[in-house]
Amino acid sequence: MSRIFEALQRADLERKTDQGTEIGPFPESIIASDTEDLPPTSTGVALENIARYSWKPSVASIPSLTDRGAEVEQFRKLRSRVSQARDEAPLKTILISSGMPSEGKSFVALNLAMSLARHGVNNVLLIDGDLRRPTLHNILGAPHTPGLSEYLAGTAEVKDILQRDKADETNSMARLPNLTFIPSGKCSDNSSELAVNHRMEELIAALSPHFDWILIDSSPVLAVTDAVDLARAADAVLLVAREARTPYEVAQRAQAAFSKSRILGFVLNAAKHIPRQGYYSYYYGGQGEEGKAGPEKNGRKKG
Ligand SMILES: Nc1ncnc2c1ncn2[C@@H]1O[C@H](COP(=O)(O)OP(=O)(O)OP(=O)(O)O)[C@@H](O)[C@H]1O
Ligand SMILES: [Mg+2]
Repeated sequence: MSRIFEALQRADLERKTDQGTEIGPFPESIIASDTEDLPPTSTGVALENIARYSWKPSVASIPSLTDRGAEVEQFRKLRSRVSQARDEAPLKTILISSGMPSEGKSFVALNLAMSLARHGVNNVLLIDGDLRRPTLHNILGAPHTPGLSEYLAGTAEVKDILQRDKADETNSMARLPNLTFIPSGKCSDNSSELAVNHRMEELIAALSPHFDWILIDSSPVLAVTDAVDLARAADAVLLVAREARTPYEVAQRAQAAFSKSRILGFVLNAAKHIPRQGYYSYYYGGQGEEGKAGPEKNGRKKG
């Protein structure tokens, strides 16, 4: 049994005596780094000319914007582990998913994206692939549309949906360097587009040469199958489980749902006990026999 499953089983036990732990705010100091000019894409989009908006990021939700603290260090470690995974097999596009709502997919996706973007000259593309309950635009304080939804429906082109922050021109404290964002767009059920056409794969193929990393946030996989469809466009899947909330069986079923994908491992989010300090940790588990059960619906509402 992998360490992540052992940790979740331990958490199941602890949850019975310690319900509802809340995490406090993160430090608020911010550092900035240089933004690189980007080459034109094969879709004819010159990335240095893409739309810039004055994002208003929620610093409390993006500890990787800060320059110190246990939380930031944990994301550095995760960044390092993800980078190491590149040595094992080609890796650029990573889908972040989990079994249930509120386990921290968006939190991990955005903070890992920021941690990668602040490292050297990495150009990072973050895509909000949660077409039903998107949150990344709110955390970034960025426009919601047009986005992935419009692209999948064929009503927007690549050049219409990419956006970057222009805060570096006005407010150096709020810079989000090297980060390009594709919001989810208008909430709608685009599962048929995801399942039957290859617009997502085409989008990733077109943009991939121009970014060092592409992270895709997604819906909980046990609620809807969108994440499994999105995973076809990704090189690998990074799963999130939340300490004291994610039941052991849910983590197993989430892993099983991505049986056709390369699974990098689990992020054990909001971990208070493993390691000794910090709000989240990560454990990389292989696909053991315990991960063979099929996914189930958990009743998450659409839209
Ligand atoms: N490690 C953490 N420390 C503090 N707050 C956290 C942490 N992880 C998640 N949160 C908070 O918990 C809430 C749920 O997290 P998040 O939105 O990332 O979950 P999710 O898995 O993306 O949910 P959904 O399935 O609805 O998209 C958010 O308010 C987020 O800021
Ligand atoms: Mg989310």
